[in-house]
Amino acid sequence: MDRLWYGGDYNPEQWPREVWDDDVRLMRRAGVTVATVAVFSWAKLEPADGEFDFEWLDDVIDRLHAGGIRVDLATATASPPPWLALAHPEMLPVTEDGVRLSVGSRQHYSPSSAVYRRYADRLVRNLAERYRDHPALEAWHVNNELACHVQRDFSDESAAAFREWLRARYGTVEALNEAWGTQFWSQQYGSFDEVMPPRAAPTFRNPGQLLDFDRFSSDAWLQVYRAEKAILNEVSPGVPVTTNFMGFFKGLDYWRHATEVDFVTDDHYPDPADPAAPMIAAATRDLMRSLGDGPWLLMEQAPSAVNWRARNAAKPAGMHRLLSLQAVARGADGIMQFQWRQSKAGAEKFHSAMVPHGGEDTRVYRETVALGEELAGLADLVGARQDARVGIVFDWDSWWALEQEATPSSLSYPQVVLRWYAELWRRGVLVDFVRAEGDLSRYAVVIAPATQVLSEAAQQNLAGVASSGRRLVVGYQSAVLDERLHVLLGGYLGALRQVLGVRVEEFAPPAEPSVSGGPVPGLEIAGLATGGAAEWGEVVRVDDAEVLSTFVGGMLDGLPAVTRRGTAWYVATAPDDLASVVDAVLEGTGVEPAVADLPEGVEAVRRGDRLFLLNWSPAEVRVAGESIAPLGAAILRD
Ligand code: GAL
Repeated sequence: MDRLWYGGDYNPEQWPREVWDDDVRLMRRAGVTVATVAVFSWAKLEPADGEFDFEWLDDVIDRLHAGGIRVDLATATASPPPWLALAHPEMLPVTEDGVRLSVGSRQHYSPSSAVYRRYADRLVRNLAERYRDHPALEAWHVNNELACHVQRDFSDESAAAFREWLRARYGTVEALNEAWGTQFWSQQYGSFDEVMPPRAAPTFRNPGQLLDFDRFSSDAWLQVYRAEKAILNEVSPGVPVTTNFMGFFKGLDYWRHATEVDFVTDDHYPDPADPAAPMIAAATRDLMRSLGDGPWLLMEQAPSAVNWRARNAAKPAGMHRLLSLQAVARGADGIMQFQWRQSKAGAEKFHSAMVPHGGEDTRVYRETVALGEELAGLADLVGARQDARVGIVFDWDSWWALEQEATPSSLSYPQVVLRWYAELWRRGVLVDFVRAEGDLSRYAVVIAPATQVLSEAAQQNLAGVASSGRRLVVGYQSAVLDERLHVLLGGYLGALRQVLGVRVEEFAPPAEPSVSGGPVPGLEIAGLATGGAAEWGEVVRVDDAEVLSTFVGGMLDGLPAVTRRGTAWYVATAPDDLASVVDAVLEGTGVEPAVADLPEGVEAVRRGDRLFLLNWSPAEVRVAGESIAPLGAAILRD
């Protein structure tokens, strides 16, 4: 499309036909270019087994087309109708405690269910055959937020699929035993048939089994996508196919999923009351751009409040616009919302929408219109790419492993990663997220925070950044385990040990702040970075590196906290003063912020010939010669 996508999920099945005409009128007034249709329409499209009713959907799509609105057509497979699940209860997902989930909400199916697959395939084929030539069809939207509610299914059918997955991965049960270290606690398997999903157990489950089940589950959901995509490609060739991601979502390894969508799309619902929301949203946008290596689409966001937090803050005036501009600035070729018209019944009736309960004479609808107008003026950015010079490693294996049971300390992987990201965001430095084993040659700086799981090849790849004279920053809890979760013996860090010139002898995380008066005190550091050292400490032994900061007090007193060997840095804690470390890392790299000396709370991003300046702070600011109101933006052209 030569315009930005602008619109949202459109659920006309919730309304009588009189409302549909009004919808098109209001969409046109708001400059809506695309509507996502039929996401939850399975029960209406197939009210009984094999009885299809497309007449109403024909009408909806024709009306949209007559109004000049393109259609992102969903395959409607996200919520099977009750008749299907009641006839085949074996398709319902099962929790790790053995509870079989019921009908009455949505996503009540196992990704491994053969029955679900058969019925979903039939529906998708019917839809594709009916609408493949419709002139309004812009894209196919597979299912919806795969794994959103059911990340892992522990049913017998998933157990069988898991065994097949393991057979393909390991070949022999001996190889599986070796990989999982099953000599520990008498867990040795005699055949694949004995292997179970990691269901609820008396205590810690096997780490290899847990990680492989995470990998398998992500792949099982990918299979759901692939099955639909294959049908769509066969019946409706040439029409792009996607599905909507959910930002930093633990359940799915989006690096793997992203290679199979024709364009990446994301759903993002920041909490308007969270001061960190702008930074987290920025990181999420950067992740999406990185996953697809280029422009992507914001597929869902709330025009104002959601209805699923304990307190659902409304977005104050300006915030929705700012979040939308932020997405465009960070590579989005479209801004879509959930949903078009606010429901009057059902579980999401209190979730905001582009047309609220109050109708068109409302703040939110006026903002809907204004945003449509503004986005129309940014159409020339469609397709514009951006080149970041800093890469931060993001790795699902490490996320899963780091947050398992029985680890050195419970850490939140995204939190550790975002601490680094925040420092660059504050400075107006664009960041890509990268894979440790990916092509890192375009980055002047690569940061690997808590990348706990690294294969030999990934260790070598990261080490290569430093040996080629570019900057490599390795954070604590990196390269501790290989891809089987076997410890990298002899001081951890594997192949990175040499470029970093350090070894780690012992982990020694500080006490929680609440108990840090006891025998294990809180930590501080001195030197390049000074002050509090949150969350982590360890005994670092220097073989060949400069010590830039040291721990102060307690058993780590005087030991290295930040080291550097040439262009390779090791950071053994989370300094409150991470800014000093980042300043030093960036120095002399030629990595430039979008605008020098950004005031606090202002975000700056370049895309194409535009400089986006977003003021998240509660005060008016002056930057790049512009005065920007609180929650205001300036978009400057070169
Ligand atoms: C998304 C979902 C939408 C809607 C929205 C509400 O997760 O895809 O269908 O439920 O959340 O915030």
